[in-house]
Amino acid sequence: MNSEREMELPQVYRHHVFACNTQRPPDHPHGSCGASGAQALWDRMGKAIEAQGLNDIGFTMAGCLGFCNSGPLLVVYPGGIWYRVTTPEDVDEIVKSHLKQGKRVDRLVMVLKRS
Ligand code: FES
Repeated sequence: MNSEREMELPQVYRHHVFACNTQRPPDHPHGSCGASGAQALWDRMGKAIEAQGLNDIGFTMAGCLGFCNSGPLLVVYPGGIWYRVTTPEDVDEIVKSHLKQGKRVDRLVMVLKRS
């Protein structure tokens, strides 16, 4: 199979969100998205996706994404866009702009590099 043929594969989701849900103790030196309040934010996002009938959006709880002190973090594919989400308003904006309209929310984008 050549690469052009592979590009024709149908996608399961229009956008697929992976949200870090790792929880470590608050005093853990690595930090964690859970200790930074991720659960309430992801609950809000899941409810918003369902309430707005976004059946072509995948929303998956993920383990640690590797940048624990930068969280709460999620990644949206295609594109591999990393967001730092800290408020309910951030969640609402990502759902409205990125997931519904396909417009990246630049103010929330995290540019991360492996050291
Ligand atoms: S705990 Fe979320 S990136 Fe590590």
